[in-house]
Amino acid sequence: MKAVVLTAYGDVDKLELTEVPDPKVGPGEIKVRMAGASINPVDWKQRSGAIAKYMPLDLPAVLGRDASGEVVEIGAGVTAFKVGARVLGRVMGGYAELVVAPVEDWAEVPAKMDLVDAGALPLVLLTGAQLIEEAAKVTKGQLVLVTGALGSVGRVAVYVAKARGAKVYAGVRRKQKAEAAKLGADVVVALDDADELGPLPQLDAIADTVGGETIQKLLAKVKSGGTIGSVVGEPAGAKERGLVVRGMLTHDDPKRLGELARAVADGTLVVPIARRFPLAQAGEAQKVAEAGAGGKVVLTG
Ligand SMILES: NC(=O)c1ccc[n+]([C@@H]2O[C@H](COP(=O)([O-])OP(=O)(O)OC[C@H]3O[C@@H](n4cnc5c(N)ncnc54)[C@H](OP(=O)(O)O)[C@@H]3O)[C@@H](O)[C@H]2O)c1
Repeated sequence: MKAVVLTAYGDVDKLELTEVPDPKVGPGEIKVRMAGASINPVDWKQRSGAIAKYMPLDLPAVLGRDASGEVVEIGAGVTAFKVGARVLGRVMGGYAELVVAPVEDWAEVPAKMDLVDAGALPLVLLTGAQLIEEAAKVTKGQLVLVTGALGSVGRVAVYVAKARGAKVYAGVRRKQKAEAAKLGADVVVALDDADELGPLPQLDAIADTVGGETIQKLLAKVKSGGTIGSVVGEPAGAKERGLVVRGMLTHDDPKRLGELARAVADGTLVVPIARRFPLAQAGEAQKVAEAGAGGKVVLTG
């Protein structure tokens, strides 16, 4: 099969479309012919070597955490899917014509969802949901601020927090305020405007997808004993302020993945797709995504 292989840490010129052996299906796994895969920030962080310390790659390596497509082979013991099923999954090695992953990585693609576009979703759906449900642990009636609310993870976090009955503050850049008004949050806050941060009430929780100076400016806005849930690392100094801090790494949850995919299919949850590129142009796709595409960048199989 063809796959885009990272040959060494570095720029996008280290991503090469090449012929590699077809992956073999083991017990409990399925093989999928990739229709869609997507670019996530972790892809360029891995490619550049920026996170090589915590997530070392065995190079050459195939990047890509999402895939959608049709099941072409079933491993021993798999009953959840049949050959021909349309699936989406949070996987390893999405930048390839064929993807093999354990059955619990996958969920069914809703009937009315485009199979290519489904490849944009798995990682951001699970991450946004787990950020609210397991890291920030948001409950009904709480005041929660989501940073980077217009990002793909942020949008899902806003949706899930609203569904839990929280009062949701969507934290965005000043220039994004008009667009963020469509997110369905209760309040939109420009995080780069001190005049808007000043009047914020004491929050029960922040669900952080941005980190850095942005979360530092917000720590004083969380009530004592309140929670910071983060997908970008624990903010320095938060525990010392008496806050509960939970960093998280996304994990599989096929049931939740299926539910959230259905929310996208019925239009209640919106995760925009900005651009599509053929697999061979994965490097260009990464560049566009890293520059801020304003939505998911999808690779087509
Ligand atoms: N821990 C995990 O398991 C896990 C899993 C998935 C993702 N992540 C991480 O989560 C982060 C978000 O991922 P994503 O897929 O949602 O990326 P994304 O779609 O690019 O979204 C990031 C959003 O944050 C906004 N943003 C950045 N800096 C900001 C600031 N200072 N103030 C306000 N908004 C700001 C961006 O706006 P602009 O476009 O204007 O910059 C964009 O809307 C990434 O760092 C990713 O690596 C972690």
